[in-house]
Amino acid sequence: MNTLVDPLSYRKQSDAVRSRFEAMKQRPVVLSVRNLHKTFPTPGGSVTALKDVSFDVYRREFMCVIGPSGCGKSTLIRILAGLEDSSSGQVLLDGNPVSGPGPDRGMVFQSYTLFPWLTVKQNVMFGPRMAGQKGAAVEGEARQWIDLVGLSRFENSYPHQLSGGMKQRVAIARALANRPRILLMDEPFGALDAQTRCQMQSYLLQIWKNLDITILFITHDLDEAAYLSDRILVLKANPGEVDEIIEVPVPRPRTPAQFVSPEFIATKYRIDHLIHPETAAETDSIPFPRMTVAGDDVE
Ligand SMILES: Nc1ncnc2c1ncn2[C@@H]1O[C@H](COP(=O)(O)OP(=O)(O)O)[C@@H](O)[C@H]1O
Ligand SMILES: [Mg+2]
Repeated sequence: MNTLVDPLSYRKQSDAVRSRFEAMKQRPVVLSVRNLHKTFPTPGGSVTALKDVSFDVYRREFMCVIGPSGCGKSTLIRILAGLEDSSSGQVLLDGNPVSGPGPDRGMVFQSYTLFPWLTVKQNVMFGPRMAGQKGAAVEGEARQWIDLVGLSRFENSYPHQLSGGMKQRVAIARALANRPRILLMDEPFGALDAQTRCQMQSYLLQIWKNLDITILFITHDLDEAAYLSDRILVLKANPGEVDEIIEVPVPRPRTPAQFVSPEFIATKYRIDHLIHPETAAETDSIPFPRMTVAGDDVE
């Protein structure tokens, strides 16, 4: 981490960034999470995965959730999607309590979840057809979503004929085809190589900019969180609790060139400090036995 950057400068916002946040907070709250608790019974006793988690996501906000492995990120998003019940607390979408899955929330997972026996177009049409839509209109709309993710040439291809990045673009199109109010994404680019991941992040920002969509995006990648988010919800582990909500001071539109900007580095520094507070001390204290001749030093 660049120690030349003031570690507190993640709190300093330019006038343009401050007015963006002021405008964002004037918008209606799409997703409201109130005092969410989740415990899992296990043979060794109950595990508290989430403890008193509360936050709001504004309309058209891009929020990332980050935290160490096992802090409850996937549990949180599964509860928001209605795939898992909470032990207590409330989830409200546009003010209405969420109970069970629904087309108003689109999910994209890390693992490839396309139906392998359906083509790209059939995968994208699946949700609207399940919702009872019929005829050429469904097909026309599916084409628009496939266009949006840049895969028109592949609408009749099957998932096994696509690369990982292309599969995830279809997964995004499929989720959007249900016209959700919010996209819930659980480490969607986690299995992609670094270059494809970077491309996908830029694609997603373009999609987000051009649609009336709110995004809650889980990641454990500091660069990804700082590049994509308006705000970053940092969770801590054992039990999973909200540690801090960071307003990312990096201006929009974002470009990969900003990865070296002081605001970007300060944001990463802050997240890293929250997630790995004692990493340096732990590394220092590992007793390495010397396995070279004394005096044969490389540093
Ligand atoms: N079905 C389950 N049964 C028991 N424990 C679970 C279950 N799902 C998750 N957990 C536990 O809850 C905690 C949070 O898990 P998870 O939400 O997957 O974390 P993350 O996605 O942040 O890595 C972990 O301690 C995990 O072992
Ligand atoms: Mg997870």
